[in-house]
Amino acid sequence: MSGLYRVLQKLSDGRFHSGEDLAGQLGVTRTCVWKQIHQLQQEYGLDIQAIRGRGYRLSEALELLVAEKISAQLPKGKSDGLFTLETYLSVPSTNQYLLDMVRQGQRQPRIVFAEHQSAGRGRRGRHWISPPGGNLYFSILRVFESMPAIEGLSLTMAVAVARVLEQMGLADINIKWPNDIVIGGKKLCGILLEAQGEVNGPCVMVIGIGLNVRMPPGAGVKVDQPWTDLYTLLGGPISRNQLAAALLGEIVPVLDLSPTARGEYWQDAWPKFDCLRGHSVRVTTTMGDVHGVASGVDNSGALLVEQDGHLQRYTSGEVSLRLTKHSTD
Ligand code: BTN
Repeated sequence: MSGLYRVLQKLSDGRFHSGEDLAGQLGVTRTCVWKQIHQLQQEYGLDIQAIRGRGYRLSEALELLVAEKISAQLPKGKSDGLFTLETYLSVPSTNQYLLDMVRQGQRQPRIVFAEHQSAGRGRRGRHWISPPGGNLYFSILRVFESMPAIEGLSLTMAVAVARVLEQMGLADINIKWPNDIVIGGKKLCGILLEAQGEVNGPCVMVIGIGLNVRMPPGAGVKVDQPWTDLYTLLGGPISRNQLAAALLGEIVPVLDLSPTARGEYWQDAWPKFDCLRGHSVRVTTTMGDVHGVASGVDNSGALLVEQDGHLQRYTSGEVSLRLTKHSTD
């Protein structure tokens, strides 16, 4: 564990800690403590107060992610012990971290959480703003015997997250194809799938999930789309370790299902969460923009859009809602 992580652990209770106490407990000099505090403030944007005579404290207590705590709260099942779970203070991107491991030959199921991402990435080349201490950023490495339909897997992951959110008491959860989880028109969770493999061979898949649990004040202004977080929606704090366990408890078994069973899993739930069906949409593709009426998805998870009386199928693209609602069914 890095020195920085250890300082943050000490400060996570939200109380004052003197530089002298921190230095003594961590076995480093006071100058070293001061440098680490400075780094947590400047590089990670943490709001740490320094008051002469009292020491340092975080403006709010934080529940840091702990792999053992997450594992201990996982529902008992057949996936027990079948994956490695790690937590880090900061990585550039949890997806990239696992893709780098794949490049080094890693093939075993692996899950990595980070408190902070310095280069978190979103779909279509976007940046995923990843301030520390409040949200969840994690990625899952899984090898499939053959390439799964990416759209179907994408929808599977969104449905799995949506079901956990529903169990927490959230209502009116929408999934905007392919996998944005949106409530009240504001984004709560984004999912990024990155695959490596041959068309006819095993497929290495990295599934990255970013869920806004409590967006730290100041960080939200950097997000370039309407967003919300669980703290706002549920009106209070949420245990991130418990939430992480609940998410893995839903997602990991679903990844173990056969392709047919996985298909049934998302197809049964899709109509309830689909927020596009019947709406005029614009689909932005690499070939340009197309307009039509969203008409659900096909069995592989591709988006269906009615244009001039014909159904067109889209496997990728960015969908934006337009204002009119048509009646299609
Ligand atoms: C989107 O654009 O909606 C997808 C966002 C995915 C963000 C997550 S955070 C964990 C993982 N690591 C990344 O760099 N991105 C994904």
